[in-house]
Amino acid sequence: MYFISARAQFNNFVSVQLSMDDNIERIVLIREFDEARDNEVVEKLEKNCEIGSKKGISIYSNMMGDPLGRIRLYPVHIMLVAELLKNGEIVGVVRGCIKLVGTCSQSAHVKMGCILGLRVSPRHRRKGIALLLVKSIEEWMMRNEAQYTCVATDQNNFASIKLFNEKCNYVKLSSLVIYVLPVRFQAKDLSHDIHIEKLHVEQAISLYKNRLRGKDMHPMDIDAILKENLSLGTWVSYFKEEQWIGLDNREKGDDFGRRTPSSWAVISVWNTSEVYKLQIRRPYPFQFLHATLSHAKEFMFPCLKIPILASFHKPFGFLFLYGLDGQGERLGKLIMALWNFASRVAENVKDCKMIMTELGVNDPLKEYFSNASSKSFIDDLWYLKKLKNGPTEDEDELTMTGFAENVFVDPRDF
Ligand SMILES: CC(C)(COP(=O)(O)OP(=O)(O)OC[C@H]1O[C@@H](n2cnc3c(N)ncnc32)[C@H](O)[C@@H]1OP(=O)(O)O)[C@@H](O)C(=O)NCCC(=O)NCCS
Repeated sequence: MYFISARAQFNNFVSVQLSMDDNIERIVLIREFDEARDNEVVEKLEKNCEIGSKKGISIYSNMMGDPLGRIRLYPVHIMLVAELLKNGEIVGVVRGCIKLVGTCSQSAHVKMGCILGLRVSPRHRRKGIALLLVKSIEEWMMRNEAQYTCVATDQNNFASIKLFNEKCNYVKLSSLVIYVLPVRFQAKDLSHDIHIEKLHVEQAISLYKNRLRGKDMHPMDIDAILKENLSLGTWVSYFKEEQWIGLDNREKGDDFGRRTPSSWAVISVWNTSEVYKLQIRRPYPFQFLHATLSHAKEFMFPCLKIPILASFHKPFGFLFLYGLDGQGERLGKLIMALWNFASRVAENVKDCKMIMTELGVNDPLKEYFSNASSKSFIDDLWYLKKLKNGPTEDEDELTMTGFAENVFVDPRDF
């Protein structure tokens, strides 16, 4: 048993007593990330921390020189680092942001803190550093009046699930499926009977504002998301034999969204590769890897369960498709047309090797993706915790009702 000193944001010193078995590192300082001083070392740490691994292949994220890239787009955000006091080594990081989230069970929105990019150096694990980082970021969130905090994790990440669920009392909120299509797998021609049109950003905002109410959880600042440079656009599809009245009227406020054809679909595309890239590494000697690469055409990308090409060993990016929606009897064909269309968009984005999307387990669109070939998935879990500033037990519908099954996945979080 010994003390770890943790200074959370803005010189606010707290002491957290942790029980540990080893005696290697005694004192850790939690402080705010300093861009000028920490950039390089945090980038290196990130590259050493796998975000998924199985059977000898590990997946890493490459922040492309900007460790804040994933959270910069949130007006309220922070990155904390864990530093060993004895030698100044940075051994862990965590990012956090706060946003307003609408829920269908509550008339008002809630102030939600999101934990992103928690990493601890492999050499310093199981010493309580992640626990300390989580506690520190929760304190920052409470100081910024967040009512809840949430985190997403792969269902195979037992370390992370144990940490959040068992140690930090987070409860499971949602179960989601990630669908992936490597760009080179795109072979299908776009259907001749389907019309695909790009919406003006104001049209996209108006369409989504109408539709988001049906979601169990959704960001309140959809307009800011759609106006971001990383958002490449919003496209709708419908059958050519039908008309979408008002679609060509680009004026703000036109309610074209109420005059949809009988079947229609919509997607928006987010260029994640501008912010970070993924990289795959096998911990085998180079010769073995080289020999294997030259003889085998494809590897299994185990976490994503997709075949992987040798070129995936370089950092690669992907497009994230968000805001998938639509209605009508022929919605399946229309959403698949947009999925294929997006993989064509990806072909023209530098270093972009795949498209991905994520749907809640009960999202009505899920059935179309589950039946489609050459798409694969991993299961993602969202965990939630009510903070001290949160609603009283009677009003706490989010953690009490338990499960958000049909959610709008914020592309900034992915
Ligand atoms: C997950 C991760 C952050 C944990 O970091 P850590 O500093 O080793 O975690 P801690 O020492 O604070 O562990 C706190 C608790 O988490 C759980 N835990 C952490 N690592 C675990 C492991 N490998 N197996 C099982 N439980 C584990 C335990 O309950 C542990 O408490 P205990 O040691 O008293 O049993 C670290 O393994 C990591 O960086 N992994 C790669 C990136 C990642 O998966 N990030 C999480 C994304 S949400």
